[in-house]
Amino acid sequence: MNRPIRIAPSILAADYSKLGQEVRDVTDNGADWIHLDVMDGHFVPNISYGPDVIKSLRPHSKAVFDCHLMIAPCDPYVEAFAKAGCDIITVHAEAGPHLHRSLQAIRALGKKAGVSLNPATPENVIEYVLDELDLILIMSVNPGFGGQKFISAVLEKARRINAMIGDRPIDLEIDGGVTADTAPLAAAAGVNALVAGSAIFKGGTAEAYRDNISAIRAAAESARS
Ligand code: DX5
Ligand code: ZN
Repeated sequence: MNRPIRIAPSILAADYSKLGQEVRDVTDNGADWIHLDVMDGHFVPNISYGPDVIKSLRPHSKAVFDCHLMIAPCDPYVEAFAKAGCDIITVHAEAGPHLHRSLQAIRALGKKAGVSLNPATPENVIEYVLDELDLILIMSVNPGFGGQKFISAVLEKARRINAMIGDRPIDLEIDGGVTADTAPLAAAAGVNALVAGSAIFKGGTAEAYRDNISAIRAAAESARS
């Protein structure tokens, strides 16, 4: 397993009054990807932001824009997120009846396609779409809010999905409650992409972000060696 570790700050935990600056600060201080949590108040019990906000952030960073759609339906909106500058677009397996179609639609727009699984969703829902996938996102909290506790029962699911991936070029990402304490557990289970909101944006300064990102990266790397 040699997929590189990717640290993906979730701007859900950033200061929304200065989002461009926050994105520049994490980009300049070790972030590999910018994780964008889109919530509709329907699929999840919270509302965040949409494609216009993402479009306005695009000029602030060259990092990969990793868009996590917590919306249902998702198909009518995928094109707007592609046009906004997202590089990876991830939909929830639970968000609609036609996961294969949604993934095909994302790739047809020239973007990388991801699927996310809620904590209670078993890995068998992705068995027949592996060839349509560039990323699998395992939720380690119930989606909707930052700052929740990591659900360690999903680590077994990560191990199983890592085995399903085999040699395919698919990133395995985890999201929710990731800290320097939980990142090594995920990395040991085969996860290579780590989303963190509150653990990265705590401190509120670029220097704090650098320390927080490097602590998570070092903890994850140590679990692999
Ligand atoms: C939850 C979001 C997460 C969230 C993670 O629905 O998908 O990306 O921002 O926040 P923390 O790292 O604070 O758990
Ligand atoms: Zn997310």
